[in-house]
Amino acid sequence: MNIAKTNPSLLKIDAVLPSQTRGGIVAAFVHHKSKKVLGSFVHGSRIERALADAMADGFEGKTGQTALVHTTDKNLSRVLFIGLGAENKATLETVRRAAAAAVRRAAQIGAAQLALRPPVIGSALLSAHAAAEGIWLGSYKYMRYKTQNVKADKLASVSFIAKDASERTLFSDGIRIGRIFSDATIFARNLINDGPSDTTPEIMVRAARGIAGGAIKLKVFDKNKITKMGMGGLLGVNRGSAQPPAFLHWSYKPARGPIRRKIGICGKGITFDSGGLSLKPPKSMETMKMDMSGAAAVFAVFKALAKLKPQVEVHGFTPLTENMPGGRATKPGDILTTMRGKTIEVLNTDAEGRLVLADALSYACRQNVDEILDLATLTGACVVALGNDIAGIMGTDPKLVAKIKAASQLSGEKVWELPLEDEYRSHMDSPIADIKNIGRAGEAGTIIGGLFLKEFVDEGKPWVHIDIAGPAWTDSQNALSVPGGTGVMVRTLLHHILSYN
Ligand code: BES
Ligand code: MN
Ligand code: ZN
Repeated sequence: MNIAKTNPSLLKIDAVLPSQTRGGIVAAFVHHKSKKVLGSFVHGSRIERALADAMADGFEGKTGQTALVHTTDKNLSRVLFIGLGAENKATLETVRRAAAAAVRRAAQIGAAQLALRPPVIGSALLSAHAAAEGIWLGSYKYMRYKTQNVKADKLASVSFIAKDASERTLFSDGIRIGRIFSDATIFARNLINDGPSDTTPEIMVRAARGIAGGAIKLKVFDKNKITKMGMGGLLGVNRGSAQPPAFLHWSYKPARGPIRRKIGICGKGITFDSGGLSLKPPKSMETMKMDMSGAAAVFAVFKALAKLKPQVEVHGFTPLTENMPGGRATKPGDILTTMRGKTIEVLNTDAEGRLVLADALSYACRQNVDEILDLATLTGACVVALGNDIAGIMGTDPKLVAKIKAASQLSGEKVWELPLEDEYRSHMDSPIADIKNIGRAGEAGTIIGGLFLKEFVDEGKPWVHIDIAGPAWTDSQNALSVPGGTGVMVRTLLHHILSYN
């Protein structure tokens, strides 16, 4: 295959003192209706005068507003004002998006260097971390297959201006962690954006081997071993495909010191979801290369763990297969026997994510972990219920659900809890097998997906299911991403893991 362009490498970001700024364009942050620039001590009253000019031209500091002001001051020749919105509503996500707006505008203007003082909301470290994510995720581009009209941005570096040496240290640490989080998210985005024939299970295994090594161990199960383990769900989904399946067991253990928690994370890895014999219509299939976003997030988490090295043991489980129609494909009406012996009547081959996750969850339960999370682009119903910005979460342990919500507050990736309503379990009663793989048309599809998975988690094991069908992909350019895969939940999972550290 002819790969014309690889993806651009990350911009350089460093933390500096006011005396070390190197010129270039300066971005300055302003709350709505505030006549003050955040951190204006860095540039003194000169910057307030530039703000007065911007305000005279209609800049008010609203979210998403930007204004470029040219001054006669040679140390501050161009200032880019970025609106932060209402001061009492500012969060780390405000910082992240404002930094992304700054870097996009600076690149558009053709600046080679950008200096800014990240707005500090609470912690200086977390604020620099968020701003760094905004810079890196906001300047992400996917270029692998472009051969024409590819212009590299002139923008080469960004400086975060700290008020003193101790804040500079906090900013540096925030940038370092922000880089690990962003780099992992971008790794997931690239894998999701690659064409589905360039991310077959075999190619995904190659990518996984590229991450493994050192503290990251990887066990690869091929079709033979998958068969021996009795993973009938994964094999059933694979039957129509010309590509063999793979099952990966990832693990990270701290080299020394205490282990504060053992976490298992399953990620749905359907490298292309055609629907199988219950074939999807063409429009619905267009984005189905993203059906491995859960697995891609697990890969990315391990890429980051190799560098973060927390005192937490983490296991990853990624079943990989295409879901294709074909002469050997599973047919509606077929019965599959899963790894834990439970039988499934497959009435719709397009409800395949739950079939591969049934085996992944059963396998995870045998690994002696304290908690299990799963990530899956599981149901179109979740997009109907919560839209493209919010993931659905469901779980058996309120404490664990609360922890995922807390991690989501730090990452800015939104989640909303849905109930695992036991009354609906009967919708999946099968006259001939233990369970059917679908419920009733148009009724609580996302909850049904969650209830199905729950059947494959050991009673009493804390477990949370995250349905990322909406936020895994975006069709429009937004604050932190461009059309394509988003790498959603990589950062939330990392915050969650670090919360035990
Ligand atoms: N991968 C899809 C879910 C999906 C749909 C993700 C749209 C992202 C955007 C999943 O495998 C699927 O096809 N689910 C079916 C389940 C149904 C047959 C019970 C669905 O949502 O239609
Ligand atoms: Mn499907
Ligand atoms: Zn799917």
